[in-house]
Amino acid sequence: MILEAKNLTKFYGLRKAVDGLHLEIPQGSVYGFLGPNGSGKSTTIRMMTALISPDEGEVVIKGKSVNQFGNEALNGVGALIERADFHKHLSGRTNLEMLARMDGTNFDRIDYVLERTGLSQRGDDKVKTYSQGMKQRLGIAQALLSNPELLILDEPTNGLDPSGMKEVRDLIGELSAEGITIFVSSHLLDEVQKICTHAAIIHLGRLITSGEMDTLLKDSELFVTEIRVSDAAKTTELLSSLDWVFHCESSNGSVKVNMDKARISYAVKLLVESGVEVSAVIPRTSLEEVFLSKIGSGSPI
Ligand SMILES: Nc1ncnc2c1ncn2[C@@H]1O[C@H](COP(=O)(O)OP(=O)(O)O)[C@@H](O)[C@H]1O
Ligand SMILES: [Mg+2]
Repeated sequence: MILEAKNLTKFYGLRKAVDGLHLEIPQGSVYGFLGPNGSGKSTTIRMMTALISPDEGEVVIKGKSVNQFGNEALNGVGALIERADFHKHLSGRTNLEMLARMDGTNFDRIDYVLERTGLSQRGDDKVKTYSQGMKQRLGIAQALLSNPELLILDEPTNGLDPSGMKEVRDLIGELSAEGITIFVSSHLLDEVQKICTHAAIIHLGRLITSGEMDTLLKDSELFVTEIRVSDAAKTTELLSSLDWVFHCESSNGSVKVNMDKARISYAVKLLVESGVEVSAVIPRTSLEEVFLSKIGSGSPI
């Protein structure tokens, strides 16, 4: 494990923002840290990066406790903590130079990280002319300055439009392919589903479930795609027989499916060719919605 959280706990006053959290992040994984707003993701990440101390438990990075070893444990870790804040009237490059100077990192990597995050062409333009997606990529460029083997990103796609989100997702995929382990938080199920090899889901500071994405997709009723069709019974019959469909059930005109998301267009084609009309494919994205519906029905997840 490159990073472990052991019984990690943080109070704000009497409220437990993070409550006995256990996490194991395998080397080489893209690990999604999912939870609705206010569930304790940023608080956890602040403890991982030694910005705040836990009240109980510890974070261990490559065998070293962050509490005990501080910055030494954080060697080889790059982080983007919540929304990146830059000097808007200065260029991306100048911002990176200032951060590199503060951290004592070498200026040598600035050209490389700008190029790596697709900002070479715009590096000398003022940050105020950047799109939100470019600002987030500059935040990731900053996290890459120290040549990290573990990258911790707190909601890197938050506030981005769909194309900005895709840019960040693609970048995460490329960095992972280079061997960097990535721990990335999000409140969007769909985002995490698209890019992560592993995930943990938290609610009110507590771990709900964690593990390999494939296993979670099969087992968890959280990762559901809704398909609206003209014939729900036939759809259920057709989809249930496929080995990449893990679970399938119909309820008043729509079918809820746990499946390999890469095959959605194939599933739609199959249905249409079998004479079923498909009027909508709706991925479940909002964890808030899932948890609210659970609270309503009173059933455990
Ligand atoms: N500095 C703080 N002081 C008091 N309460 C806080 C502070 N930061 C976060 N909280 C509370 O802790 C809980 C978890 O917040 P946070 O870790 O930011 O969640 P998330 O990142 O998942 O949205 C929330 O109830 C939030 O209001
Ligand atoms: Mg947060």
